[in-house]
Amino acid sequence: MTRYHTYDAVIVGAGGAGLSAALAAGKNVKTAVVSKLYPTRSHTGTAQGGMCAALANVEDDSWEWHAFDTVKGSDFLADQDAVDIMCKEAVTAVLELERMGLPFNRTPEGRIDQRRFGGHTRDHGEAPVKRACYAADRTGHMILQTLYQQCNKEGVEFFNEFFVLDLLMVEGTCAGIIAYELATGELHVFRSRSVLFATGGYGKMFKITSNAHTLTGDGPGVVYRKGLPLEDMEFFQFHPTGLYRLGILLSEAARGEGGILRNKDGERFMENYAPTIKDLAPRDMVSRAMFSEIKAGRGAGEDNDYLLLDLTEVDPEVVEKKLPDITEFARTYLDVEPLEEGVPVVPTAHYAMGGIPTTVDAEVLRDHRAETVPGFYAAGECACVSVHGANRLGTNSLLDIVVFGRRGGLAMTEYASTHPLPDVPEDAHEHAEKWLASLMEGDNPEPVADIRETLQQEMMDKASVVRNEDSLTQARDSIGKLAERYAGTRVRDRSKVFNTELTEHIEFGYLLDMAEALVVSALARTESRGGHYRDDHEMREDEHWLKHTFITKGDGGDPSLAYKDVTLGRYTPVERKY
Ligand code: FUM
Repeated sequence: MTRYHTYDAVIVGAGGAGLSAALAAGKNVKTAVVSKLYPTRSHTGTAQGGMCAALANVEDDSWEWHAFDTVKGSDFLADQDAVDIMCKEAVTAVLELERMGLPFNRTPEGRIDQRRFGGHTRDHGEAPVKRACYAADRTGHMILQTLYQQCNKEGVEFFNEFFVLDLLMVEGTCAGIIAYELATGELHVFRSRSVLFATGGYGKMFKITSNAHTLTGDGPGVVYRKGLPLEDMEFFQFHPTGLYRLGILLSEAARGEGGILRNKDGERFMENYAPTIKDLAPRDMVSRAMFSEIKAGRGAGEDNDYLLLDLTEVDPEVVEKKLPDITEFARTYLDVEPLEEGVPVVPTAHYAMGGIPTTVDAEVLRDHRAETVPGFYAAGECACVSVHGANRLGTNSLLDIVVFGRRGGLAMTEYASTHPLPDVPEDAHEHAEKWLASLMEGDNPEPVADIRETLQQEMMDKASVVRNEDSLTQARDSIGKLAERYAGTRVRDRSKVFNTELTEHIEFGYLLDMAEALVVSALARTESRGGHYRDDHEMREDEHWLKHTFITKGDGGDPSLAYKDVTLGRYTPVERKY
């Protein structure tokens, strides 16, 4: 049986971006959140180190310095109008969360405490600055709990464990979504004046990742299949400190509090790569430096394939108070005592800079000429606004989700208050129904899990921290073959109740699409910039490449590329030195 609902605003995803949007919209119009997970299990809850805002509570600071760092960190690919908005609104965003009850760590005077993070400097790069506001190493968890409480207070309705399958479009306007209820197998049609996607990232395409199993690119996957573009998909961030072999995140806050990266000889190798801010250089630079150390045989361990995060010189009281979770992770998962010995770490796939292109009010772009899709919005990691450009600075993602989630919610309110409820065809659900049935029919008995494992290894080996034409071409060809194998597979479990074989099958399809978009965009960009580093084109080339990539799946299924100029502002691209 199909069920029908009607709303002014439907938000897909209950992480920080979705809940910020829901809170802003829910105060004014009838709002629902549709989420694959219970809201408090969303991936925002794993964000550790902090949320960036130039409060100047601990050291001199200004939003302009924050904007400069963000643009420089992005390798000058960020749109500077969007960066200005984010950095200016950061201060009120943090204070607003404080007023809602978020338990930030405090200075002795009772102000919100702040700490160092990679790429955050004072005076346009002069020296590191304390700008990240934090709640121990559980900042995302606290944000999620706080926003969820506020949404409940405002009467936002939640459809938890509902999986989005399709976006309803009527004559080019967004009209709602179709979702699948995991507990019953029923389809739900949500007819809505406005829809916002906040479905998170897609790091599960890589073998080593800090991302949860659920981060499979569902929102961008639906968008890509609708023939709408994705932006800057080649830029994927590897966070320098994932637990060896597992990828579980050890916050950059560890280095902000004084932790040091060392190679097998005990050398503080970042001194050679970023002499001014060393271990607190932006993530793309640190991850590449780690890759070079390992390649040169200076990695630690029997296979020389990891580096060591040394916390032994940090005051144990600071470790206990400010980094309790990550030290426990090291003890639990690697049996290492961080107060006494180095913790084995490797770069881990962490954050997608690319995604669904939007305006600064979260309106989704229909094409690279900046036309928008009426009624359709996106925010958070699934979106590309673009404030992170080619490389995001740590703690700017919790900021991004709160600022642009809220702006999206306000824009939805305005739109929903001035536009009629779109008509939805009576057979709107039929396409999804037929699609689900077709997934039970393939004749390839291979488990999708095996194909997924191959994709994750291929992406890790050929499209991660270092790439080139050969590796990307091989990755593209592998993805094509894996897609053929996947198309023939079938879901054997026909049950309606929590059919995880079915959901994992669908999720893997989205991951394949995301991998294709990443690799095709990366092959075309013959330069190195931020998280996209090619050892066959090592230089950044502003003359040709100071532009955003837009990738679209054409009618025949083949991707095509177009480009949009970067919005510049006060900061002219220069060589990045730290
Ligand atoms: O290292 C961290 O705590 C991660 C923060 C971020 O990705 O913003």
